[in-house]
Amino acid sequence: MSDILTHTDAGVMTITFNRLDKKNSITAAMYATMADAVAQAAADPAVRVVVFQGHESIFSAGNDIGDFLNQPPSTQESPVFRFLRGIATFEKPLLAAVAGPAVGIGTTMLFHCDLVYAGDNAAFSMPFVNLGLCPEAASSLLAPRMFGYHRAAEALLMGEPFFAEAAQEVGLVNRVVPPTEVNGYAQAQARKLAAKPLTSLIATKRLMKGGDQQAVLQKMDEEGRDFGRMLREPAAKEAFGAFMEKRKPDFSKL
Ligand code: COA
Repeated sequence: MSDILTHTDAGVMTITFNRLDKKNSITAAMYATMADAVAQAAADPAVRVVVFQGHESIFSAGNDIGDFLNQPPSTQESPVFRFLRGIATFEKPLLAAVAGPAVGIGTTMLFHCDLVYAGDNAAFSMPFVNLGLCPEAASSLLAPRMFGYHRAAEALLMGEPFFAEAAQEVGLVNRVVPPTEVNGYAQAQARKLAAKPLTSLIATKRLMKGGDQQAVLQKMDEEGRDFGRMLREPAAKEAFGAFMEKRKPDFSKL
């Protein structure tokens, strides 16, 4: 079975993380599949809304750390950047249903969704500093803007998880429901949207977000350059080595 499942019904394309044994962590191949699906959704008039979902126990553990070390994203055409640009420029409504942990890009991709529903077990985290890295997906621009600077600084500098209620309070999440209901709830909302005039949905989204797109893409590029450099530096090597060896990292000399 594929690690990413894509299914279209009644105008709604659903993209499902399906790699439970590795906590839905995302490999380059999975990013490529998702980037292609998003591009297809953008081009296909039969797709009016896209929903991202995981499992009721986990949304995504973020980048697959081993895969990331073996094939770090090296150019702007790398699958992860293609995927991020795809969701940042997507004209139709994008929804996410999040239950359980949403780590790293599992959280930052939500800044590019229009509606986010969370299970009451959802735990969002952006632990880039703890991995010797820096933010990605334009989260260094979008988190302060959405949360306010101090709350964004807490999320991005401390890198600790924050939970469904807090995520709703800062505006990342629209509604919190039981974990077993979150995918169904998002699906029902998506179907409501899919029944509305697509031209109006696209115009409304463009009017809300349009002027911002260049700044978001520029920030993604800037972050991508720093992220790529930092991946090869000692702090990230120590953090990733520690994860693979199942030990605590030691940053005392870095
Ligand atoms: N990359 C690669 N493998 C991962 C992974 C990741 N990001 N997250 C989890 N896994 C793997 C684990 O190595 C483990 O594999 P194993 O069974 O072969 O040992 C398996 O998934 C289960 O993970 P585990 O940590 O035992 O599950 P948990 O329920 O205790 O914790 C998380 C879940 C998501 C909180 C925890 O796995 C985690 O923190 N993962 C790392 C998140 C991260 O730093 N992501 C990178 C962002 S750039």
